[in-house]
Amino acid sequence: MSKYCKHPFHTIQIQNTGEVYCCCCYWTNFYSFGNIFEQSFDEIWNGEKAKEFRKQFIQNKYTYCNTDVCDPYLQEFEPNYTAEYPKKIEFSYDRRCNVRCIFCRNEKNKEEEEYNRQKEKRIEENFDKIFPPIIQKAEVVELNSAGELFASKHSIEIVKKIIKINPNIEFNIISNGILFTKENIDAIGLEKHLNTVIISMHATTEKTYNKLVEHGNFKSLIKNVKYLAKLKKEGSIKNLQLNFVVTSINYKEMKDFVKLAKKLNAKAFFINYHRQIDSDELMQRLDISLTSHPKYNSLVKILKHPIFKEENCVLNDYLKELKPNCKKLTNIIKDLFKK
Ligand SMILES: C[S@@+](CC[C@H](N)C(=O)[O-])C[C@H]1O[C@@H](n2cnc3c(N)ncnc32)[C@H](O)[C@@H]1O
Ligand code: SF4
Ligand code: SF4
Repeated sequence: MSKYCKHPFHTIQIQNTGEVYCCCCYWTNFYSFGNIFEQSFDEIWNGEKAKEFRKQFIQNKYTYCNTDVCDPYLQEFEPNYTAEYPKKIEFSYDRRCNVRCIFCRNEKNKEEEEYNRQKEKRIEENFDKIFPPIIQKAEVVELNSAGELFASKHSIEIVKKIIKINPNIEFNIISNGILFTKENIDAIGLEKHLNTVIISMHATTEKTYNKLVEHGNFKSLIKNVKYLAKLKKEGSIKNLQLNFVVTSINYKEMKDFVKLAKKLNAKAFFINYHRQIDSDELMQRLDISLTSHPKYNSLVKILKHPIFKEENCVLNDYLKELKPNCKKLTNIIKDLFKK
């Protein structure tokens, strides 16, 4: 049997507009299966648009997928036009955050915030009508890759509702870790529901961390990560991963980061920095993956160290091969904004 990407047969990503994607909307050129406010879930999940999307897998023609930048979930199975209810649900739209990482989006737009609030209100008002049948059949809910879960009342309320609807549900959570405290875990009732926890840390020293994360709190972060490592040891968390976005500011701490992750029984995951605006001076300075960057060769030398071959360490594809795929992603994002 051949391997195919399982996302369109297994995953949905909900946006606050109600649009339902099966994967990252940038990777699929905003190919929506339908809108949850306008159609029933059955009409969306096995409707014409979903079938058309799945057809590309059956025919081995990837018309709608940006396969040169995406991260497929490869599995051996026989692809079909229709699929059972999704096992994984991603809520990926809430952009609220308690800090400002200099490499993440940095705008604060009052009008956009108000517009998003209106859309979230619609989700809240319709949640009990739309989501229970989908959540009851799901195994994992993932949030929040757009902002910070623990900084958002809206997302926290969604998590609480989901646990009530499906007491067996598990969560994959990506967070900056600052508010991932024992108190917050207990208050939300998360402890028995943690599958994968990803904490974005980017540094091993407070000095470097503070250069990258404005309004952060390195001491709280370390304390919380140690508590999460304890939960992992006790079996309450299945997978613990520490993320590190590689820039010219922190790259010298990469080796120590692998050691820190090992001590905490966690995976160290290194991501190349995706520059979003070509001409921005700060972004150019941070982007050490540019061959023209004065520190590029120094990064290449560090990446050759055997520590990066250790079992608990993962370099994303770009860093593994230092191939310029982030440039392609930059262009895709730029093109989409032009539309
Ligand atoms: C947008 S954040 C949202 C979740 C959470 N707030 C966090 O920081 O983990 C999701 C992931 O994207 C990473 N990220 C943010 N900006 C990035 C960039 N310009 N290039 C590569 N990764 C980036 C973050 O470090 C984090 O691991
Ligand atoms: S092939 Fe890539 S873009 Fe298409 S569904 Fe899978 S991960 Fe997403
Ligand atoms: S914590 Fe996450 S969402 Fe917030 S600014 Fe940093 S990377 Fe972006």
